[in-house]
Amino acid sequence: MTRDRAAIGIDFGTTNSSVALATGGPAVQLVPFAYSSGTTEAFRSLLYLEHVKERGRAAIKSWSGPTAIEQYLAAETKGRLIQSLKSHLSSRSLTSTDVFGQRHTIEALIARILADLRVQAERHFGMPIRHAMVGRPVRFVGAETEDDNHYALSRLRKAFQIAGYESVDFEMEPVAAAYHYESTLDHDELILIGDFGGGTSDFSLLQVGPGIRHRGRTPQDFLGNSGVGLAGDAFDAKIVRNLVSPRLGAGSSARSINKVLPAVPNWVYFKLERWHHLSFLRTMPVLNMLNSTRVVAFEPEKIEALIHLIEDDLGYHLHAAVQRVKCALSLAPQAEFCFVDGRMEIRASVTRRDFEEWVSEEVGTIEGCVDSLLRTSGVAPGDVDAVFLTGGSSFVPVVRRIFDTRFGAGRVRCGNEFTSVARGLALKAAG
Ligand SMILES: Nc1ncnc2c1ncn2[C@@H]1O[C@H](COP(=O)(O)OP(=O)(O)OP(=O)(O)O)[C@@H](O)[C@H]1O
Ligand SMILES: [Mg+2]
Repeated sequence: MTRDRAAIGIDFGTTNSSVALATGGPAVQLVPFAYSSGTTEAFRSLLYLEHVKERGRAAIKSWSGPTAIEQYLAAETKGRLIQSLKSHLSSRSLTSTDVFGQRHTIEALIARILADLRVQAERHFGMPIRHAMVGRPVRFVGAETEDDNHYALSRLRKAFQIAGYESVDFEMEPVAAAYHYESTLDHDELILIGDFGGGTSDFSLLQVGPGIRHRGRTPQDFLGNSGVGLAGDAFDAKIVRNLVSPRLGAGSSARSINKVLPAVPNWVYFKLERWHHLSFLRTMPVLNMLNSTRVVAFEPEKIEALIHLIEDDLGYHLHAAVQRVKCALSLAPQAEFCFVDGRMEIRASVTRRDFEEWVSEEVGTIEGCVDSLLRTSGVAPGDVDAVFLTGGSSFVPVVRRIFDTRFGAGRVRCGNEFTSVARGLALKAAG
């Protein structure tokens, strides 16, 4: 391996990204990303932009990852915080967005994150990074056809190009996680990988192990992949829909001349549910519409709270509150939801059973995806030696249950939830 062709793996995730370097055999090093109170291997895939004056001229300054969150939290006048950018890649209708009066393509915004990952990895490993093995979901969020998937992939490639990478190769994210899992094995296995992230749930069935590596992989070792564009963000959306939106006026009414109508159109709450759409709500037409509605609403305090949330760009805080309750429910059968900002206060007790009911449709779709992979590959659950679950959303008990019931808890393994994909990508890059 030359220094120019270092075995770098980059997992650009919907929520978290990580960068790994294979250093020989199964050994992998991860880039530790610094922030004010330490380092993290999981770099939040978000971007914060501020309109600043530099030497008398207006400019846009940007931060990504953990420092973006710190900058956003410290800012007195909030700029623009953008999350879950990866989820826009398959969309042909949203290809760019206005930030402080300038158009920015989604690729260019993603490139800012990818450039920071590159620079920090170069600094940490002490070498230039021109090539990388990059993960891709089996099916991008919102992709309905293979054509949509190609389109999303070409935009991701473009983002890497803008960020200064000379070339990238792609590998399916669950296959990458399989290479990481393989590095822990002393025997061959037929495995099912389930990678549950923020945007996508991806599955692969393949033969791995030292024997397979030694004889060289063949196409017959890869039995199939499947994926669906929903995961942790979709679970969050259901928490917002069932717990938050009704307290911000969803389902409430307003007087309109001599009729009673819904106070706020549903599309506003739909954007509130989707972290990657949230920042698009903060526009004058939306705020004007909400201010006129407030005057005629039967529950004006709820519309006021919604306006406060949008005007003060509290999406990140709302997201954090939703994540807190979701993560607490992974550990306990009951948890408290708490979101307080100034006069705005939402508190509620949530049970795991409530949450599981809210996400039952998503879980059903995920189950269908696993079953169809087994069916199309002609593999019976009893033939699978082990199931490896990874990605942050694999902590959700109802997700794990899908596998416990089909394969038995004894065959289900987990680990390196936030770094397995980057580790496996680096191992693949090493050949
Ligand atoms: N303890 C937990 N319980 C439930 N969900 C969790 C927990 N920890 C993290 N998550 C969720 O995991 C998701 C992030 O996981 P991960 O970092 O694997 O995703 P990603 O790789 O960024 O996304 P993708 O692979 O879809 O592009 C988020 O939705 C987060 O809320
Ligand atoms: Mg992931």
